[in-house]
Amino acid sequence: MTNPATRATKLRQQLDDASYRYHVLDEPNIPDAEYDRLLRELDELEAAHPELATPDSPTQRVGNAPSSKFAEVRHAIPMLSLGNAFSEAEVRDFVRRIEEKLKRPVLEFSAEPKLDGLAISLRYEKGRFVQGATRGDGASGEDVTANLRTVKAIPLHLRGKGWPAILEVRGEVYMPRAAFEKYNEQARLHGGKVLANPRNGAAGSLRQLDPRLTAQRPLAFFAYGVGLVEGGALPDTHSATLKQLREWGFPVSSESKVVEGVQGLLDYYGRIGGKRDALAFDIDGVVYKLDDNAGQREMGFVSRAPRWAIAHKFPAQEQSTTVEAIEIQIGRTGAATPVARLKPVQVAGVVVTNATLHNADQIARLDVRVGDTVIVRRAGDVIPEVVNVMLEQRPKGAKPWKMPAACPICGSEIVREEGEAAWRCSGELSCPAQRKEAIRHFASRRAMDVDGLGDRFIEALSDLGYLQSVADLYKLTLEDLLEMKRRADERDGTTPETVKAGKVATKWAENLIEAVDRSRNTTLERFLFALGIQHVGESTAKALAAWFGDLQVIRHLPWPLFKHVPDVGGEVARSIGHFLDQPGNQQVIDELLARGVKISDAHPPTAKLREGLDVATLLVDLEIPKVTRVRAEQLGNAFGTAQALVDAPAHQFVSAGLPSESANALATWLEVPDNASLLLRSGDAIGQLLAAVPETEAIVAGPLDGKTVVLTGSLSSMSRDEAGEKLEALGAKVAGSVSKKTSLVVAGEAAGSKLAKAEELGVEVWDEQRLLDFLAKHS
Ligand code: IVH
Repeated sequence: MTNPATRATKLRQQLDDASYRYHVLDEPNIPDAEYDRLLRELDELEAAHPELATPDSPTQRVGNAPSSKFAEVRHAIPMLSLGNAFSEAEVRDFVRRIEEKLKRPVLEFSAEPKLDGLAISLRYEKGRFVQGATRGDGASGEDVTANLRTVKAIPLHLRGKGWPAILEVRGEVYMPRAAFEKYNEQARLHGGKVLANPRNGAAGSLRQLDPRLTAQRPLAFFAYGVGLVEGGALPDTHSATLKQLREWGFPVSSESKVVEGVQGLLDYYGRIGGKRDALAFDIDGVVYKLDDNAGQREMGFVSRAPRWAIAHKFPAQEQSTTVEAIEIQIGRTGAATPVARLKPVQVAGVVVTNATLHNADQIARLDVRVGDTVIVRRAGDVIPEVVNVMLEQRPKGAKPWKMPAACPICGSEIVREEGEAAWRCSGELSCPAQRKEAIRHFASRRAMDVDGLGDRFIEALSDLGYLQSVADLYKLTLEDLLEMKRRADERDGTTPETVKAGKVATKWAENLIEAVDRSRNTTLERFLFALGIQHVGESTAKALAAWFGDLQVIRHLPWPLFKHVPDVGGEVARSIGHFLDQPGNQQVIDELLARGVKISDAHPPTAKLREGLDVATLLVDLEIPKVTRVRAEQLGNAFGTAQALVDAPAHQFVSAGLPSESANALATWLEVPDNASLLLRSGDAIGQLLAAVPETEAIVAGPLDGKTVVLTGSLSSMSRDEAGEKLEALGAKVAGSVSKKTSLVVAGEAAGSKLAKAEELGVEVWDEQRLLDFLAKHS
């Protein structure tokens, strides 16, 4: 066994190396999981041998116990601010002043991005991180050492050699944009506090009194200079100093460059400005610093800013404007997102007229109202968003906003799942906003399996008006397809040469029409899955089909009845119910059936349903507050039917044995007309199901019942006999020759006359793969 001390040293070295490669060199050498594993090992080792723990161990980054306030730190060398330039002229002035004073032309500058975070100073003694402070007023700041230890990009000790005995490194702690977005997404999901921008994120995180909270914030760090240096020396230019800092283990922006003269600066500004949106972090400008330290000393300072450096600012990413309306937008998958329509305003060089409000929770939190003055933020390629409301400027009479009840596009109900921030339109099949996605899903291989209907055709068919809904697939003609293709090619400028020369290919269209036609014959589970009901995946579709057996039964069931299917809980049941409650969706189902879609495997509901088709179970499934199983049984015994229960005066609930609390809750619930009618509808549905459910389970019908199958050619995965047995087990009759009565021919390698005969008679032919897929699905 290795000596624990040796192992701990080795682990620390590996972890430090990995961290340096990740944060400084941007060349990770081990996966995150491996890093975590090594860190855990070190942590366990230090726990078992406390004498091995060191203050600069990577295990110390998890955050210590909270403190009640931050101590004050006086900066040995003040932390200065920078003068600003907003125009080219101001940059020229800046350079001219330096050239005049130093009497040297064409000077070299270090040009760097101006990171939008929080300035800090890090103190290293004998190579160890001992103290970190915020800038504060420049003369003194707050001691945030414990928090800074949790920032993984800040080295806890210096690498390499030659560092001064005391070294203060200055730089910016920031929150990378992606981390900021992710953080906010989580906060929105869980109702936490949303950060207005990455800078507030960084500042807020560093001011946490509990370092364990800071440790959870995704902060990063860039070094851009030094403060006090004692017991050693640094290079005599700024750029060489940055290079040295990088070697000692500090992340330095790879965008820092040495450039010459005014033109060099302006070119740099243009180049970084052009990349601004693509950078991983927010910047509010660039910083120019005279590169030569001796020149810097000669230039000196005015008040609290150096004369040798200046910040050249970009247009602001935040602006204020007023909200003219709040509308909702329905996304491809039905998500309903509120959007603020704004008085047009320039933000970071782009005119912004809309900003996302994310969801109703976010609106409620910000309390955005029509007429409000708000701060809009546009950073990177992120959609502009409202980050704040200026309450002092709210006009009198502005009313809180409420999510509308109906989809503005299709009129279906807008619903929200319990505990979810997101709202959605329940017109899955009928909402034009969801059309393309609905068609794509409907036609996909595991749904209706319309072979050859790719995304480009779906786009073109919907954009050019051939498909209003999935049902329109079944009225497409060959002419429609050819015309669509011609128009789409014309629109996209992709008309093939052969077409220009007068030849029009039609085979693809014939194939597609045939594929659509083939898809008409389907199974209930495929059909249910194809509808694209939220939360109804293949396995739920399969279970619904197995339990209820018939689309005509399913399509009129009220939602509580779906809870009889194992694994279907309230959320899924409600989602199916919402879908079926929308007249638009029902109409599309009608159209599909009218246009020849046939479900080949309808059967009576399973006998297993019998158990639980009673009023008591229904009352439980309805999730009425305070009505538990016991109370539901009492009500079932006393009233027998849903109708009797609805007709009963409330005092009879108490006579039935309910405590007054439950009786009141039930009475209140029943006062809502929708609830009472749902109860009655469900009661009726139970009656109808009971009539349809067989006394005992019918002999399970095989998927190939009544079908005659012929096997021909050789199969590679099994013998023909084996295949025959498997098909018979699924209800097929296996025959030796092909005739008009043959339902299906399975053709292996080198199939001969039987295959030819099948093709001649138009009998369906499967290849081996299709057979295997089928067997796999039904085994
Ligand atoms: S140098 C003496 N370089 O800008 C020069 N500052 O307005 C001191 N900042 O408080 C600052 N990126 O928070 C410098 N590359 C950079 C910077 C930078 C961001 C911030 C820093 C400072 C503020 C000055």
